[in-house]
Amino acid sequence: MTDFPRAGVIGNPISHSLSPKLHGHWLRRYGINGSYDALQVTEDGLERTLRSLPAQGYVGVNVTLPHKVAVLQIADQLTDRATLIGAANTLTFKDDGRIFADNTDGYGFLENLRQGAPGWDAKTGPAVVFGAGGAARAVLVSLIEAGVPEIILTNRTRPKAESLRADFGARIRIVDWVQAGSVLSDAATVVNTTSLGMKGGQEFRVPLDGLRSGTVVTDIVYTPLRTKFLDAAAEKGCVTVDGLGMLLHQGVPGFERWFGKRPEVDDDLRRAVLS
Ligand code: ATR
Repeated sequence: MTDFPRAGVIGNPISHSLSPKLHGHWLRRYGINGSYDALQVTEDGLERTLRSLPAQGYVGVNVTLPHKVAVLQIADQLTDRATLIGAANTLTFKDDGRIFADNTDGYGFLENLRQGAPGWDAKTGPAVVFGAGGAARAVLVSLIEAGVPEIILTNRTRPKAESLRADFGARIRIVDWVQAGSVLSDAATVVNTTSLGMKGGQEFRVPLDGLRSGTVVTDIVYTPLRTKFLDAAAEKGCVTVDGLGMLLHQGVPGFERWFGKRPEVDDDLRRAVLS
């Protein structure tokens, strides 16, 4: 047991995670006596590790791949948002040892847009969302909560998009991946939640000619920070917001719960995390 609060991130692998830099920067900036560690945990050891952490002084952890879905079965209490999204990324250990699970990815997504595109409002018009994986679930739930009138969802594998519509309801309209370019002119907001454009992977090839100037376009990929998708949108006069801010903002609620201080997301933090 330590005499200061400990937090961390659990995943497998974990060495690539930027969360230790993110929370480490905030701990230093606010002069908080606490720690934040990277914890490599296998699926087999997940429950045992989680149950053992409070006794070692841990007040909570972030959860990353591949454990974001599995922790729902272990947690004692879930927020509605974690239940709806079907995954958790932020766990808090209560004094009585119970595990409280939340999902702050959608919060991070919305706050990043609000900060990067001041005046952005989901209610302005339809959103086009590319992709139907785990990240898409958090994005869809948050857009619906924020009052988006319609979501046009497109995914290479159409049945996955249909299953999201079955989960999240009638505001979602599905278009085929090959037709995705044709719906962009209707969009007030466009989001790439696929892994396309990530360094070392395949490029995002959907034609973006239909994008209107002024549309807010964001990418959850942040390696590289400026994806070709964002560059192409900026050339069309769109307001572009990179994906790093989503990661930074999703860390805010956990840090506040664990260390008692609501931290700022600013350029200093971006520099620290990218260094
Ligand atoms: P995450 O949890 O990050 O969303 P994921 O669940 O593996 O990751 O989802 C990856 C997303 O990227 C999916 O929407 C996937 O499309 P499929 O459902 O058709 O697999 C999309 N994706 C990955 N590679 C793709 C490619 N080459 N072309 C189109 N979409 C791709």
